Amino acid sequence: MPVERESFLRELAGQRQWWSRRSPVNAGIVERLEADLSSGSPIWFRRLQEAYEDRSFANDYEASALLIVSLHHRRLSGGGNVLVDPAGWLNGAPPEFWARLRHAKLQANDPERSVGWLLVGCAALMPQGLPFHLVDMGTSAGLTLVGDYLPRDWSLKRPDGSACGEPPRWRDSPYPVLSTIGPDAEPRLLSDPRARLWLKACIGPDEDKRHAPFDAAAELFLRLEKSPGGPRLERCAYAAMPEFIRSRFKPHAEEGLLVYNSQATDFLADREYRSLEKGLARVLKPWGDRGFWAELELPRDRTSKLHQLRVHRWTEGGFESRVLAALTERPGEIVIEEGWGFVRPLEPRRAPRVTIEEPPKRMEPGIYKFENPWIR
Ligand SMILES: C[S@@+](CC[C@H](N)C(=O)[O-])C[C@H]1O[C@@H](n2cnc3c(N)ncnc32)[C@H](O)[C@@H]1O
Repeated sequence: MPVERESFLRELAGQRQWWSRRSPVNAGIVERLEADLSSGSPIWFRRLQEAYEDRSFANDYEASALLIVSLHHRRLSGGGNVLVDPAGWLNGAPPEFWARLRHAKLQANDPERSVGWLLVGCAALMPQGLPFHLVDMGTSAGLTLVGDYLPRDWSLKRPDGSACGEPPRWRDSPYPVLSTIGPDAEPRLLSDPRARLWLKACIGPDEDKRHAPFDAAAELFLRLEKSPGGPRLERCAYAAMPEFIRSRFKPHAEEGLLVYNSQATDFLADREYRSLEKGLARVLKPWGDRGFWAELELPRDRTSKLHQLRVHRWTEGGFESRVLAALTERPGEIVIEEGWGFVRPLEPRRAPRVTIEEPPKRMEPGIYKFENPWIR
């Protein structure tokens, strides 16, 4: 579907607004491209239309955001100072720039977005005494998978703006996670310098508060992935994810399953999202109240421009869902909504089996990296 001038101008206006709070450099670039496109039909826009002719976009920002990220990527790869006169540079951009854009994907990987699964792990599974498997769908380079090893710097607020107490064991590190796996259509390996450069380009050039945490999380990930129970990435498209999860994890009475996605299902068309929903319902049903699907995403109906934490669980014939938290305009701040009772077990959990031969099970942090026979 061709990218139309008017809709692209609307996208650029949205991008300008979005970057203005985060990266004045990117906001300035967008402003210059907007002015150039408003006043005529520049060569760069025709090249962009050609590059995108076989693509369709499920949301109203990916087409323009990819152009901004590609400019930053060019600069990081030593392609000159493309940020000073972006429209002029784009008009003479070499064919390989447009060829790369043709297949490029937005893959910003923000370790801060692990806050969603940490909250659900803490509130839903740890109080039940359940160690759990974590699956992060659309994980990019997997930095959200290692959130339990990172500092808990989020500021938790109540809806009225007052400080919210932290859930018990919020600061444990690591959490009692049995296995961590991140499927993605195109996983990005941090050990590959080209992949790492693209991920860095997804962060604004002057977003100083994001570059250092990204680098620290990346180094941590590279260390952890070498350990036997460490995080794993796998190539898998959303359409195949329910089966991917079902085939790897067999329901177990003393384990939980936490399926997560953040800023990733926004790249699915409505039809694809509904099919994912149906597939995950089938996968989570046999886990009963030990299985959760949590999403930190923009609401699909765009009733808010901020990410919401929506938690789904299987009850009596289908998924029940609640929005239990939302990010705010301030980086690192999250509002904890009312209604977390929703994640309590449906029936009181029986204590783990204890016999004379088997000592009581305790959930001390950091001791759950044992082999699990159900994982292939
Ligand atoms: C913006 S990144 C988000 C990464 C990470 N979840 C986070 O919050 O930082 C979106 C990811 O979704 C993946 N993705 C998009 N469409 C997909 C699809 N149809 N199947 C699998 N992964 C997909 C992309 O490859 C990309 O790595």
